[in-house]
Amino acid sequence: MNKLNADSIRCLLPQATLQSLAELSTFSEIGSTNSYLLQRPEPSPGMMSVAIAEQQTSGRGRRGRRWYSPSRSGLWMSLAYTFDSRPANMSALTLAIGASLADELVILGVSETGLKWPNDLMVGDRKLGGILLESSSGGMTAVAGIGINTALPQDANDHIEAGIEPIDLSSILTDPPSIDHLAARIIERLQATLHQFDRDGFKSFVAGWSRFDTLAGLEIVVRSGDVEQTGTAQGITDDGALILKGKHGIERIVSGSVRIVDCREAVV
Ligand code: BTN
Repeated sequence: MNKLNADSIRCLLPQATLQSLAELSTFSEIGSTNSYLLQRPEPSPGMMSVAIAEQQTSGRGRRGRRWYSPSRSGLWMSLAYTFDSRPANMSALTLAIGASLADELVILGVSETGLKWPNDLMVGDRKLGGILLESSSGGMTAVAGIGINTALPQDANDHIEAGIEPIDLSSILTDPPSIDHLAARIIERLQATLHQFDRDGFKSFVAGWSRFDTLAGLEIVVRSGDVEQTGTAQGITDDGALILKGKHGIERIVSGSVRIVDCREAVV
């Protein structure tokens, strides 16, 4: 993967996006781009700050997991956005961002892109990337961390905690985009996503998210804390909860991690 260059990312962005960028910082190495933006002054309402690194030494994933972010192997990027008024349903922003990233990946040629609730970017049963949403200023500022594998080392599997085999863009696309091009496409797209979420809420993303839903109709196990529930995934609600049809009827799951039941588990 080529070197990150903030000037060439700026050159690839339209004027409207540049005007709402409070900060665009690039690093050859950093602990975590999310941690960096959480420590920076929040952008003004409607504005966005972006941090991108070639390598993260303490990259963070959901549920306190480590996010494997070796040098020049992926897009390791965070965006901070300050809302005009506190969103009623901030956690659904993860899904809105997922839907927009999936649209963008399809445009880039990743036709098999899928989404696994709540935050995984998938290609088939392998993980291409993930989203880590955090917030500051009492929920007025969202910090969204995006990790997309572009060219992982061969031994990547040995370093990944989540138990889902990874995949990267260079093994999917014959002509993968440069890191600056990928970053610019995603910054432009997510700026529009954040404004739309601010203005219209999550409802306006439900249909878009559902087109990429990889769980609908499958038998799954959802773990929330120490509790595990089994059932059939039935899409999402208007506020981004997962709909699970289990033995006690329909349940709304607002947080948790999901495992697909291997058909072999069902064989007695
Ligand atoms: C997950 O699937 O668990 C979420 C992964 C999010 C990783 C990104 S990489 C950029 C940003 N900085 C971090 O420390 N994490 C996010």
